[in-house]
Amino acid sequence: MTRIQILDPICVSKIAAGEVIERPASVVKELIENAIDASATEIRLTFKNGGKDLIEVKDNGKGIPPEDLPLAIKRHATSKISSEQDLDAISTMGFRGEALYSVASVSRFSITSRTANNELASCVTVDGDVDKVQISEEVMATPGTLVRVRDLFFNFIVRRKFLKKASVEEAHIYDVIAQYAIGHPQISFAFFADGELEFQTVKSPDHLSAIKETLGKELVKSLLDVGMIQQGEILIHGYLSKPGHHKRNRKYQYFFLNGRRIFSEILQSALEEGYGPYLMKREFPVAFLFLELDPKYFDVNIHPQKREVLFYDEKDLMTAVCSTVTHCLKTQDFVPRLKSRVMEEKQTKLEIGEVKAVTTSSTSRDIGHFDKKHQISLHPNIKSSELPLSFESADSQLVEVHIEEREIRDFFGSDLKFRGSLGDEFLLLEDLSNHDLIILDFHAAHERINLEKFTALFKAKKVKSQTFLRPFRLFCTPEQRMRIMDSLSHLNNLGFDFRIPKGTKREVEVFAIPKILAKTDLKKFLESLLDTLPKMVIEDQYHEILSLIACHASYRAGEILSFQQTKDLLHELVNIQNPKICAHGRPTYIRIPYQDFLKQVRRI
Ligand SMILES: Nc1ncnc2c1ncn2[C@@H]1O[C@H](COP(=O)(O)OP(=O)(O)OP(=O)(O)O)[C@@H](O)[C@H]1O
Ligand SMILES: [Mg+2]
Repeated sequence: MTRIQILDPICVSKIAAGEVIERPASVVKELIENAIDASATEIRLTFKNGGKDLIEVKDNGKGIPPEDLPLAIKRHATSKISSEQDLDAISTMGFRGEALYSVASVSRFSITSRTANNELASCVTVDGDVDKVQISEEVMATPGTLVRVRDLFFNFIVRRKFLKKASVEEAHIYDVIAQYAIGHPQISFAFFADGELEFQTVKSPDHLSAIKETLGKELVKSLLDVGMIQQGEILIHGYLSKPGHHKRNRKYQYFFLNGRRIFSEILQSALEEGYGPYLMKREFPVAFLFLELDPKYFDVNIHPQKREVLFYDEKDLMTAVCSTVTHCLKTQDFVPRLKSRVMEEKQTKLEIGEVKAVTTSSTSRDIGHFDKKHQISLHPNIKSSELPLSFESADSQLVEVHIEEREIRDFFGSDLKFRGSLGDEFLLLEDLSNHDLIILDFHAAHERINLEKFTALFKAKKVKSQTFLRPFRLFCTPEQRMRIMDSLSHLNNLGFDFRIPKGTKREVEVFAIPKILAKTDLKKFLESLLDTLPKMVIEDQYHEILSLIACHASYRAGEILSFQQTKDLLHELVNIQNPKICAHGRPTYIRIPYQDFLKQVRRI
């Protein structure tokens, strides 16, 4: 066995750097944090080739005195703490004194800095070996600091090989800059990639303009202002998504603790718990929550990249966040999400007078029997047969409707009787031969139907598109744009026509969509599409997009179906290949045998 030996300093520095610097975006994070700690109000970032060839960060902060500059790149050299006690109350972004050392160990590095008291700047240059530095004094520069990082990992080939293509690295960089810009609206950020300005934020008293600049104005429109809430020791402010404007993943959940973005499962669950009934399955709220708390109540020194912190009193924190969210939703005015498609589709779809669905006594008086959130205003031209089936008649008797059709009967083994609805998502049907109760998840059923129909069209290359006269412009982050570009041919085959306009990296144009989506909320669909694309692996792409299209083209929870729609749905369901499971593998309906029920109530 090899004898134990002390590693040589170059190897040590690479191991240390490996913990802090994973990719260009980690360098960017460290350099921005240094600029923030130096009280900069302007930070300009420039990149080449996704940061692999060049990362340049210039700030107008307080700078480093010439005599300290060579120290800045030494390991454990920091101006931010001076003793062990200081670790208990860290109020700066950095404190370990290893970021510059790490970056300088794995790149061709230079730092030029000037304080306000000095006429000239000094510059330190390193070529991968922090013990061999070149110092130039008396360099012309404006006050502040300029760090240049060239050829990242040039001396760490394995790491360099694992870097992704430039557009992917640039997307990571974008995320990092965006989060600091959102967290620090008092600083203006300018971000240039390969000579083009990606975005620029202006100094602002609130966070909204940075959110708008980096994540788009549509997102800003969907936010509620939490206000300023003091919960015990914690001060909380920020923004939350209005119900109905949630996302399909947690990517848009930003928590900041004293200006530092942190990732915390505790905060995520407190947030989601706070939303309670306002959050549907598979929905994730958008949140920008800023927590201000005395540093003595948490420890930031537990994660190599300082992404996570340890709260000493997690329970208090959870309660504070959860009740802030609940309070915000209770006190704020937002438009409820539920609306009926009955009215929207009136002219196009409903076959009037075909069924004996709703008693003629159904008048506006009956509306009162609705759960409030299901209320719809009665249109004077609407006939009773168009009314939704979950109605109760004036004498509170459930309307009974027979569904007699051979194919439906063959499938379920009997005629069915419509018995009403349950919650927002289920229809109740009775099997007339034995009184079994069939509970149908109408969204799941519709989604399955649409998935099979659309997949068949797609396989037969018969997908029809709906073309827009004027293209729909869509804001996107570089990551989303990159994913769209990677998926362009997939999307084309599915009936979309996405194009990348010249002169902006922030938008894509949609010229056509599959016809099946013609009646959906297009903006919502496209947002979900952008959120879904990143998660996919290439071979799964079609299935993922097909499922998403099917989902969006389907009835949604809370919609009220007319009798005809219910009948059509059942008819289509029994004619597809896999009527019993939805696109995600859940049952489309379940059957509760009447005999089991009788046993339970001790009738037999
Ligand atoms: N942009 C800057 N402006 C002014 N001073 C800077 C700047 N960047 C670095 N420094 C100085 O160099 C020191 C070393 O920076 P470095 O990032 O390596 O460590 P740190 O910020 O103290 O701790 P950490 O490793 O946790 O980031 C800092 O403590 C600070 O004094
Ligand atoms: Mg630092």
